[in-house]
Amino acid sequence: MVRAVEWVDEAGVVRLIDQTQLPSSEVYLDVSTVDALVAAIKSLAVRGAPALGAVGALGVVVAMAQGVRENWTADQLAKAVDVVRQARPTAVNLAWGVDQVWPLAADGADAVLARAKQIIAEDEAANRALSVIGADWILARTGKQKVRVVTHCNTGALATTAWGTAYGIIHELHDRGALELVYADETRPLLQGSRLTSWELTQDRIPHVVEADGAASSTILRGLVDVAIIGADRIAANGDSANKVGSVALALAAARAGIPFVVAAPSSTVDLATASGDDIEIELRDDEEVLTFHGVRTAPLGAAGFNPAFDVTPQDLISAIVTEHGVVEPDRDPDPRLLARIAG
Ligand code: MRU
Repeated sequence: MVRAVEWVDEAGVVRLIDQTQLPSSEVYLDVSTVDALVAAIKSLAVRGAPALGAVGALGVVVAMAQGVRENWTADQLAKAVDVVRQARPTAVNLAWGVDQVWPLAADGADAVLARAKQIIAEDEAANRALSVIGADWILARTGKQKVRVVTHCNTGALATTAWGTAYGIIHELHDRGALELVYADETRPLLQGSRLTSWELTQDRIPHVVEADGAASSTILRGLVDVAIIGADRIAANGDSANKVGSVALALAAARAGIPFVVAAPSSTVDLATASGDDIEIELRDDEEVLTFHGVRTAPLGAAGFNPAFDVTPQDLISAIVTEHGVVEPDRDPDPRLLARIAG
């Protein structure tokens, strides 16, 4: 299994697989400065909420080491850490990862690194646990021996520290012989579905097809899938969930078709401090990403773009939110206090 993020003790660097180059090239980036780490986050060389949590924590280690090398003041260090924390706004995990380790800075770099490594181990354990819980729930709810799944974006090992979230459930279903086919949305504009999810599904020998994002709602309404499973970047206290733009179209179609819509995430993605989806900042990315395709201009010169990277699915459209601590069913029981049960 590929590791999206690791700490290399011997070199004192964060090693990232450069996801902008997949699937054509497997290139690794060794990162030892805050600028390089922030550039990797912004360019989506490293991406996916749980992976960003690990990067946030390791970013503090990187900043502390750079601070020693370059004789930073305490203020300079705090500012550098904040730049990492704010590199992308929507996935709560990035700030969460920083906040988990920054209070330990007074105890030294070893204490910070130890907690960062623990976060990485805990994320894998959470993903494996939620995958079992999610697969159980899906088979019980659909009453099927084998399911056909639609998913959006990339939620596999590449998006996490290992194994994956929504992807982890798909993998678990496959390992149980309970998976017929995955429809992987290509995920415009940066193609996390066709470039990354399909790459992982191919490596794991999981049967799948890649479809255009615009096909997904029709795939659902035509009865070609039994369940939609997606990840999350931030789950608000009332259950509203932010994920890659295009996710809410699946939720609307799933509600109309009467199939379950499942959101899977480690508890680190649940943000009880954010009341509802209205309070989630949606990252607006460079217009060029939608005005071009693979660097070639597709829209006429002078056309303006609109490029929100995420959307919010309202909780009443969500059949299940699954974390390593269990499942809540917001469409059946919208009591917001329930979410606290599966939060960290
Ligand atoms: O812009 P990205 O590629 O970071 O967006 C990622 C997603 O939307 C994922 O679905 C989400 O982070 C969950 S990853 C387990």
